[in-house]
Amino acid sequence: MKVCRAIADYRSEIARFRASGETVGLVTTMGALHDGHMALVAAAKAENARVVTTIFVNPTQFGNPADLLKYPRTEEADLAMFEEAGVDAVLLPSVEEIYPEGDETIVETTKLAHVFHGKVRPGHFRGVATVVTKLFNIAQPDAAYFGEKDYQQLAVIRRMVADLHMPLRIVGVPTVRETDGLAMSSRNVRLTPEDRRAAPVLNAALDAARSIAAQGATVEEMADEIRRVIDSEPRATLQGLDIVDAATFEVASGRPTATVGIMISVQFGDVLLIDQREIAP
Ligand code: PAJ
Repeated sequence: MKVCRAIADYRSEIARFRASGETVGLVTTMGALHDGHMALVAAAKAENARVVTTIFVNPTQFGNPADLLKYPRTEEADLAMFEEAGVDAVLLPSVEEIYPEGDETIVETTKLAHVFHGKVRPGHFRGVATVVTKLFNIAQPDAAYFGEKDYQQLAVIRRMVADLHMPLRIVGVPTVRETDGLAMSSRNVRLTPEDRRAAPVLNAALDAARSIAAQGATVEEMADEIRRVIDSEPRATLQGLDIVDAATFEVASGRPTATVGIMISVQFGDVLLIDQREIAP
């Protein structure tokens, strides 16, 4: 695996792959890797001759400077995991190279960035869309792989790629979970042991919504059921609950006639966890 700190090195490595006619799959991350990230690498490997990755803790998507400082950094372990998974090249760029002196260009999905999770995290999805555009332009992959766990992020990226005619395929990968159902996340290590034991309540609430949906429940009834399950866990505070049409990302209501996506965010102490579920009618 080629470890590149400079964009030019990474680009010339990828150019070599392309010159031999090989397809390239890209996985972008902020490091602190776990099996969720590795599922993206596995999906990319299954579909491409070469897999390239990035590790970059992107400052522009953090609203709060303290959060950025607290973000876990485990570079050595991350590189070992990528190497073991058969990644061909990884880019670990500096903030200064990604955001050059005088940088002023942004990319924003003007509606999608401001609703749901975007409403409580102003600027977050603009930071994501901007850095992902930069990383796409640097790697120029055939396909890029994103987790369904970050459901709105995936929708933002699909929208941006369609709107800007970016020449690559976006692939969504199902959420990887711990055995008790908690979605894997770099934030899970920040939970206290008590909160960690309570955290599977997100998955339990989404499962409960799915079972009543199977019996014909409306979107409003699913929302009530999710509130009931989360409220039954005293350590958990429901912060966000949105149920949208999976295709349009418009707020859903009534008895679903098309696939809906449920997004929840739940606070445990100072850690905000998110999870998601798609439910077909
Ligand atoms: P990060 O949180 O490191 O996640 C990198 C990728 O891994 C994202 O596509 C995310 O959805 C996926 N992922 C995280 N946990 C997962 C899980 N349990 N199962 C499946 N996939 C999972 O998301 C970001 O970084 C950043 O916003 C980024 C896209 C890199 C832009 O800075």
